[in-house]
Amino acid sequence: MMGFFVWAHRGAAVDAPENTLVAFAAAEAAGADGIELDVHLSRDGVLVVIHDEWVERTTDGWGRVAELRLAELRRLDAGSWFSPRFSGEPIPVLDEVLDWAGDRLRLNIEIKEAAAGGALLDLLPHYPRAQVLVSSFDHRLLAELRRRDARLPLGFLFEDDSWRRVLRRALVCGAESLHPREDCVSRPLVAACKDNGLALYPWTVDDPGRIRALRRLQVDGLFTNDPFAVSCKRN
Ligand code: G3P
Ligand code: MG
Repeated sequence: MMGFFVWAHRGAAVDAPENTLVAFAAAEAAGADGIELDVHLSRDGVLVVIHDEWVERTTDGWGRVAELRLAELRRLDAGSWFSPRFSGEPIPVLDEVLDWAGDRLRLNIEIKEAAAGGALLDLLPHYPRAQVLVSSFDHRLLAELRRRDARLPLGFLFEDDSWRRVLRRALVCGAESLHPREDCVSRPLVAACKDNGLALYPWTVDDPGRIRALRRLQVDGLFTNDPFAVSCKRN
């Protein structure tokens, strides 16, 4: 059985602007085992790493990601909103994150819109060394990905008390893991995951007391914005 797995949520998001290469490098330096990131599709069909459907919150631009071309997205500053120290940090394209991670770090690629699913299946064969876990709240999309790729590791996200239904869907798809919002974790859920060989990775947990409680419940790891705080207390 693997040890407790620390996923850096959007990178080390307490230390650096979320979903940027500098946040991912900070996560690796902090001892994270893997990095969670969010992907959307640009207007011209390129997978870009950003959480929101709109660029306003995390860049100096405006508009929907899906309506902006890659060249327009790449001109945006995705760092200054967090701190002037990160001025000019761009929105990454997924290719460069896969190149950067190599086989050192696992990447949890969270698909934020269905249109990105096909593009991801087209991209991943170019990165045979990549260690990925693909997740989404869109369980139909995950089922479609499974139909098109029998081996892609899949994680089922959810944020309500529907875990029995999600578990059934995940088992039908041969998923690797369930990713509940952290307050949806319960003893029966942990037991059902263990019985069925699914890993359980709750999100997003930064509070040390809550992290201890989840570890006592024997989840397999968790998503945190502060991977240093978690990974240095892991053993
Ligand atoms: O993948 C875990 C978590 O990132 C899901 O929610 O909104 O932070 O993408 P969100
Ligand atoms: Mg996410």
